[in-house]
Amino acid sequence: MKTIFLGPNKIQVPAFIQGLMRTANLSVKELTELLHHDIHLGITYLDTSDIYADGYCETLLGNTFASNPGLRNNFLLQTKGGILRGAKGFAYYDFSEEHIISACEASLRRLQTDHIDFYLLHRPDALAEPEEVASALDKLHASGKVLHFGVSNCNTGQIQLLQKYCTVPFEINQMEFTLGHSLMLDPGMDVNRVETQSYDHDQGVMNYCRLNNITIQAFSPFRAAKNRNTGTLIDRYGVKVETRPFLNNAEYAEINEKLAEYASAYDVSSAAIVIAWILRHPANMQVLLGSTKADRLQDAVAGQNIQLTREEWYDLYLSAGGIIP
Ligand SMILES: NC(=O)c1ccc[n+]([C@@H]2O[C@H](COP(=O)([O-])OP(=O)(O)OC[C@H]3O[C@@H](n4cnc5c(N)ncnc54)[C@H](OP(=O)(O)O)[C@@H]3O)[C@@H](O)[C@H]2O)c1
Repeated sequence: MKTIFLGPNKIQVPAFIQGLMRTANLSVKELTELLHHDIHLGITYLDTSDIYADGYCETLLGNTFASNPGLRNNFLLQTKGGILRGAKGFAYYDFSEEHIISACEASLRRLQTDHIDFYLLHRPDALAEPEEVASALDKLHASGKVLHFGVSNCNTGQIQLLQKYCTVPFEINQMEFTLGHSLMLDPGMDVNRVETQSYDHDQGVMNYCRLNNITIQAFSPFRAAKNRNTGTLIDRYGVKVETRPFLNNAEYAEINEKLAEYASAYDVSSAAIVIAWILRHPANMQVLLGSTKADRLQDAVAGQNIQLTREEWYDLYLSAGGIIP
């Protein structure tokens, strides 16, 4: 298994993470089988969140650990907090000290473990008071409940503001990134030009993370953005984009034709080519795989063995609507 060195302390971790967002329909037996398959593949890093199925994904994982003594110890365990679904039914954000601590302690109980290896603030709270975040993280760290911290879906300024107050380092930023959702690098391909691709959505967060040893975890590798209004492939800067799986999806013909071409040339699946495209980027990202299907995970992981040439990488970028000026 390919490994990368995570965060400022260069912790050696697998390049792949098993995402558990889609596990709510599994039984303990099925999740046990999935986790053993992950171990077999070398995916010994798990990601979940207290918001997935309103806590049930964590509960199921905790029950699975409890049913299989020792299983927990095979994995680095990551969960996320900071999103709430209130009585009014919509999701909102809460980075208050009280919420972060109580949410993390509730995750520990559901997960039936005494510590979380990596705890991420799931989505930025516009009302966050950085001093409160700092106090919460310090307490969770000092108590041994959380070993390392990170954020998710945060731009440069948000990380800088929190980090100014927090004594623990932010080691991770979990961000959506793939072919067809490459907004973190697009503006750098189109500097000082009028095309909409030059619009910077995240304050150059990819370079900021690289400069500060913050590992980017690329989530949803097989979902791409599609413009809801025009129906055209990735007008990335349209009014409202939605994401959906693009592999073998006829709506994404151009990407799929190009993926099939390289899949045939390298004798792997199209999924492996997507993964190779992400891993080819020198930011040394981890990739979060969300499928719970053994064959799909195996197909995807095969991408770690493929080193795309620059020309191939740019060819794939073009097929996903990227602009090379
Ligand atoms: N921080 C955040 O805000 C955030 C947001 C979203 C996700 N995440 C994390 O990232 C993880 C991965 O996200 P994800 O599940 O969206 O990623 P994904 O691996 O891209 O899966 C997205 C979809 O692609 C499908 N798919 C996967 N392999 C395929 C293949 N070979 N052929 C056709 N379809 C395929 C999956 O279907 P099947 O499931 O049926 O295989 C799934 O519906 C989550 O589990 C979660 O841990 C984080």
